Amino acid sequence: MSSHANGIPPHGGTLINRLASDAEKKEFLAQGERLPRVQLDDRAFSDLVMIAIGGFSPLTGFMEQNDYETVVTEMHLANGLAWSLPVTLSVSEDVANSLKEGEWVRLDDSQGRFVGVLELTQKYRYNKAHEATNVYQTDDEKHPGVKVIYEKGDYNLAGPVWLLQRDPHPLFPKYQIDPAESRQLFQERGLKTIVGFQTRNPIHRAHEYIQKCALETVDGLFLHPLVGATKSDDIPADVRMRCYEIMMERYFPQERVILAINPSAMRYAGPREAIFHALIRKNYGCTHFIVGRDHAGVGDYYGTYDAQKLFDEFDPDELGIIPMKFEHAFYCKRTGQMATSKTSPSSPEERLHLSGTKVREMLRRGELPPPEFSRPEVAQALANAMKQT
Ligand code: ADX
Repeated sequence: MSSHANGIPPHGGTLINRLASDAEKKEFLAQGERLPRVQLDDRAFSDLVMIAIGGFSPLTGFMEQNDYETVVTEMHLANGLAWSLPVTLSVSEDVANSLKEGEWVRLDDSQGRFVGVLELTQKYRYNKAHEATNVYQTDDEKHPGVKVIYEKGDYNLAGPVWLLQRDPHPLFPKYQIDPAESRQLFQERGLKTIVGFQTRNPIHRAHEYIQKCALETVDGLFLHPLVGATKSDDIPADVRMRCYEIMMERYFPQERVILAINPSAMRYAGPREAIFHALIRKNYGCTHFIVGRDHAGVGDYYGTYDAQKLFDEFDPDELGIIPMKFEHAFYCKRTGQMATSKTSPSSPEERLHLSGTKVREMLRRGELPPPEFSRPEVAQALANAMKQT
């Protein structure tokens, strides 16, 4: 029986598994010392993991040039499948010159551990400004995603990969639920419709509001905080996960809500990343995906609802996951509850808007965010974490 027999098909139809078999691992280890090496940064390592566990299905490796070009310019893979962000392994010209197409390359993580193998099918030079302006809509190097492009090497290495072994997450082993397992779990719990939630910030009441509004109309909620690389001023993943644990203990029903980590790295690509985030959650078995205000945005590079609008440019069938769109949520003083302008008649003065950024500022000043913004236990956990830094 395939892993999606009773669930939503993964993107492209097959859940990819690029975890080396015992025999392959043995062979790779035997050859490891002799193979040319490439060291992965944290993002490339998390991309390797995501490919291996099927989170990036249908990708089986780092993108070859034809996929890369059509993804950058048209948000589709060369075979026509929707895909909105490049997944590439960039190296310097010197490294690229030292490698031959057709050979195996040993992939080491940032600590120098042998973690995977790339069958190098192609190496190609790419145009950074072209990638930045298409993918991020800006070539401003202050944009954290664009900055990464300009810091990377000038050549991409492409080809299928293998992950040597799937290690438990060093910080959150309990929440490491890979796509084959989440699909299984949804089935076991009888959850037919599941909404996925992406986040890189500590949970606040607007998050909780849109999560629960969504859950009112589907069977399950898959809370899927991103724990891969984020920019340095984002709240660290361990603090964010602690906040989610508190919410799971006190404020969410256990049967319908599943907390799991998303190992991938943040790109801050706004609308395009919203599509990417949705496709990843489809691979985890979600049927729906929450897209709120300024999803995956940073600064003021993207319009508040640009991410929602981008979903309308795709044929719903080609994405195969349903976006659940939410307006900017706030605490409404008149009605004494969370609301959006769709549900509240209040005037702007009656609305308490607080963003993750504002809360970070409050915490830095030693203030606790108010209960209209954050559950008190979560506010306290954030304050405690702030004290320790
Ligand atoms: S993100 O970069 O991962 O998108 P964040 O963790 O802040 O950042 O947001 C997670 C999800 O909640 C996104 O879909 C975002 O659009 C949505 N969201 C965050 N705050 C609000 C809010 N006040 N109102 C509506 N949606 C929101």
